[in-house]
Amino acid sequence: MGAPPEFETVSIEIGGADGAEAGIGWLFFDRPDKRNAMNPTLNREMIAALEWLEAADEVRVVVLTGRGEAWSAGMDLQEYFREVDDAPPHVEIRARRDSADWQWRRLIHFPKPTIAMVNGWCFGGAFTPLVCCDLAIAAEDASFGLSEVNWGIPPGGLVSRALTETISARDAQWYVMTGERFDGRQASAMRLVNEAVPGEDLRARTVEVAGRLAGMNTHVLRAAKVGVKQVRQMSWDTAEDYLYAKLDAATGHDPEHGKQQGLTQFLDDKTFRPGLRAYDRSGSAGDERG
Ligand code: COA
Repeated sequence: MGAPPEFETVSIEIGGADGAEAGIGWLFFDRPDKRNAMNPTLNREMIAALEWLEAADEVRVVVLTGRGEAWSAGMDLQEYFREVDDAPPHVEIRARRDSADWQWRRLIHFPKPTIAMVNGWCFGGAFTPLVCCDLAIAAEDASFGLSEVNWGIPPGGLVSRALTETISARDAQWYVMTGERFDGRQASAMRLVNEAVPGEDLRARTVEVAGRLAGMNTHVLRAAKVGVKQVRQMSWDTAEDYLYAKLDAATGHDPEHGKQQGLTQFLDDKTFRPGLRAYDRSGSAGDERG
């Protein structure tokens, strides 16, 4: 694919060809002086950055994180709100479309695993991309808030929808109405993020999780994660039909024939146990029994 494209408000780094970070595409909110607030330029550049990461063969997992002290301080109050309020209607329509395009639509359907690595401030509109990443790991002292009511608006976009996808209605109502902040530990207790770890361990822990996913069968992971997201809206009958169809489609089109490899390695070669780890994608595992 060549070197990643360069942007004004976003940046991409690719983990090495081998080593712990192999296969990891780092995607940064890169406006540290503005606490990574999302302005219309950033929203447009995120669309382009995600398109590049989707097509880059060397990228098997994407980690979304922020430069500096913030993950993201939410929508840019100057450029997304004040300036757009004063502009002709089509400017607002486009700004909202670009924002939705990557913050939920592209992220929620992204074909590779995605991890939000929350390194600091996370406010308002930033909750949408946070929830739309498949997994989230936060620093214990990261600071989260639905600060919209603090500056005079109810949460817009899909913030409240995203919030109630993860945390309870009681907690959502509390934080949306009070504008109070909570930290990474509380975010983990509420299941807004999968884990909170000390800030100094955040990158290492994220690399560990991302590296594990990067070593797995991307085709199967894609089907698995889409299945989890889709069935939430379905009846049991529809979900059963859909999930079997998904399973058949995924295994029928799997370029590395993971199911056959997994079954052979467990049942015939007896070189691994599926309950303990993933099958060896090179097909040459040593015998771990004994
Ligand atoms: N929109 C626009 N600009 C923002 C911003 C936002 N959401 N968040 C931070 N900035 C800008 C500040 O205006 C400031 O710009 P300046 O240097 O040109 O004056 C710069 O980023 C640094 O912000 P500052 O407030 O000085 O940093 P801090 O470390 O003291 O505080 C925050 C960090 C995140 C607590 C604070 O900036 C804040 O409350 N931001 C707004 C968060 C918010 O309500 N977001 C929800 C939007 S829906």
